[in-house]
Amino acid sequence: MEYRRLGKSGLKVSAFSFGSWVTFAKQVDIAPARVLLAAAYDAGVNFFDNAEGYEQGRSELVMGQAIEELGWSRDSYVVSSKVFWGGEKPTQRGLSAKHVTDAAHAALKRLRVDYLDLYFCHRPDIDTPIEETVRAMHNLITQGKVLYWGTSEWSAQAITEAHLVARRDGLTPPTMEQPQYNLFVRDKVEAEYAPLYDTHGLGTTIWSPLASGLLTGKYNEGIPQDSRANLPGYEWLLQTFQSEEGSRRLIKVAALARLAGQVGLPVHHMALLWCLQNPRVSTVILGASRLGQLTDNLAALEAGALMTAEVMSAIEVIMTNKPEGPKRF
Ligand SMILES: NC(=O)c1ccc[n+]([C@@H]2O[C@H](COP(=O)([O-])OP(=O)(O)OC[C@H]3O[C@@H](n4cnc5c(N)ncnc54)[C@H](OP(=O)(O)O)[C@@H]3O)[C@@H](O)[C@H]2O)c1
Repeated sequence: MEYRRLGKSGLKVSAFSFGSWVTFAKQVDIAPARVLLAAAYDAGVNFFDNAEGYEQGRSELVMGQAIEELGWSRDSYVVSSKVFWGGEKPTQRGLSAKHVTDAAHAALKRLRVDYLDLYFCHRPDIDTPIEETVRAMHNLITQGKVLYWGTSEWSAQAITEAHLVARRDGLTPPTMEQPQYNLFVRDKVEAEYAPLYDTHGLGTTIWSPLASGLLTGKYNEGIPQDSRANLPGYEWLLQTFQSEEGSRRLIKVAALARLAGQVGLPVHHMALLWCLQNPRVSTVILGASRLGQLTDNLAALEAGALMTAEVMSAIEVIMTNKPEGPKRF
């Protein structure tokens, strides 16, 4: 396993990490979750991603129990939670000081830990001044309940504002952002955030590296019965796969698969390795609903040398979606 610094912080996270969205408490209960977590950990994965919003907190309950049963030493792994989508009541959602604090306490209990290594604002909250959220995060850090705080899908402008407020008021600034990043979604990581890597030392824990499984090529022959696109509650995903944009993406996946075949890689290995080629990516969060997928995806690391400059150029020719230079705001 390769380890990368989380931005400018001293924390080293595994290049491939493992997240539980959709899977834990929906497709996978405690025993299989334990098997998945153990396989990842034994392969050197040290970061495990979660959120209060995943299955209304039940995903964190599964992860917390499974990790406790595995008996890992607390200093050997990094675990996250995210705050934003708690309950239905106004005080149970968003990024107010109250909800940020309540959600952290609840995640600590569910995950069965004394502190969260990473704690993300799962989305921006237009109803809460950034200053209030920064102070709430800072307080959790000074109380030893959180080590690093970050954002997910915030604009570069909002992240910059958080840094300015933190510097002005002597508070802890955000360390990392969790954006979607894959062959189809590139703009934020490659363009919008470009000024933030050197200025603020931003780290990135990127999500949906396989675009929810689309980049495995398994949706090119229709919708597999046993895939997330067929799950109750994920009709929105099915709709995106079956939309015009979804059809355009499937054509690209077929072309990528032909290229991958020439290179000697499965297309999903090429897609995962492509994410890792970007040095601004601190860690690629894998998702897997079963053990075979996870061990298969982790094995991609062995083929990193096949991602030559020629292969990267051939991918650009297929994708034609390279962002046009850093966006300033
Ligand atoms: N911050 C955010 O807003 C946000 C949003 C989304 C995700 N995340 C984080 O990022 C993590 C990863 O995202 P993701 O789950 O969407 O990642 P992904 O890699 O794009 O999709 C993973 C899913 O694709 C399918 N798959 C993966 N490997 C496969 C293989 N080798 N063969 C066949 N199918 C395969 C599986 O679904 P099926 O078997 O069900 O088809 C698996 O659960 C999440 O767990 C979560 O921690 C964060």
